[in-house]
Amino acid sequence: MDKDISTKQKKIRTLLDEKKGILLAHYYQRPEIQDIADFRGDSLSLSIRATETDARVIVFAGVRFMAESASILSPDKTVLLPRLDAGCPLADMITGGELKELKRLHPGVPVVTYVNSSAATKADSDVCCTSANSVKVVNSFTGAETVIMVPDGNLARYTARFTDKRVIPGRGYCYVHHNLSPDDIRAVKEQHPKAVLAVHPECTLDVIDMADFVGSTSGILQFARTTEASEIIVGTEHGIMHLLKKENPGKTFIPASPSMVCRDMKLITLDDILDALTEMKHVISVPDEIRKPAYRALRKMLDLSS
Ligand code: 13P
Ligand code: SF4
Repeated sequence: MDKDISTKQKKIRTLLDEKKGILLAHYYQRPEIQDIADFRGDSLSLSIRATETDARVIVFAGVRFMAESASILSPDKTVLLPRLDAGCPLADMITGGELKELKRLHPGVPVVTYVNSSAATKADSDVCCTSANSVKVVNSFTGAETVIMVPDGNLARYTARFTDKRVIPGRGYCYVHHNLSPDDIRAVKEQHPKAVLAVHPECTLDVIDMADFVGSTSGILQFARTTEASEIIVGTEHGIMHLLKKENPGKTFIPASPSMVCRDMKLITLDDILDALTEMKHVISVPDEIRKPAYRALRKMLDLSS
């Protein structure tokens, strides 16, 4: 390994020990960050882990909504996001005004909000969901015939397939997954005819319909461990390849498209984490008037997932 990288990794681990901190990393983060994280996971497991730790400081290698969720769930902890500009375009695809308008048009209809959203959107929602539990969350509204699901329209349309309820989708999408096309899949399948296809539910339904497996990042990792196939086309962000290859040395993983890279997920570097720990920046906190209702929506999701 690059000497420079391992020196920085060691410094980060020393600073984490000194500050009684832990490093949480999403599967889309750079490999050298995932390798030294105390815990790496999908959105749901990272939220859960943030509630379970005794650490005083949580360094979040992910994007802003993830650090916000950690702070909402654990307001007594110091949550650091090493890059303030690490956002999520999908989370920004619903405004407070739009959600109010949806609620006005559909009075009394429960709002299920994907965790890839701002704290303010969560605060205006009945419950949150992730791609790992969206069906369970929607079906938990036993008395409701209709639910609103924002901001990701693709996840909403996919979830609608597993419920009798009418699902009103948000207009948002994750560009990393939404831009994957059936033509991309056909091209890669032509090169790898024996490969199976695993995709994330943030993809469009026409891509989902071509897949052998659809699931969250954890779901895709689990599928890769258990499938008998030795070649797997991966329809999610490129960062997941690191763990897929590490865990399954005998299998071959092929990106569904070389452009499935999230710019925001790749912003954080080892240097940013070093700076964050040295200067204790950037502290993410949510004002109480938003935190409390957002906490209720996240807590309800976690209770349903346990
Ligand atoms: P999951 O890890 O929950 O599948 O989420 C994917 C994602 O797009 C996170 O930004
Ligand atoms: Fe947002 Fe998509 Fe990037 Fe996840 S992969 S942070 S949903 S833009």
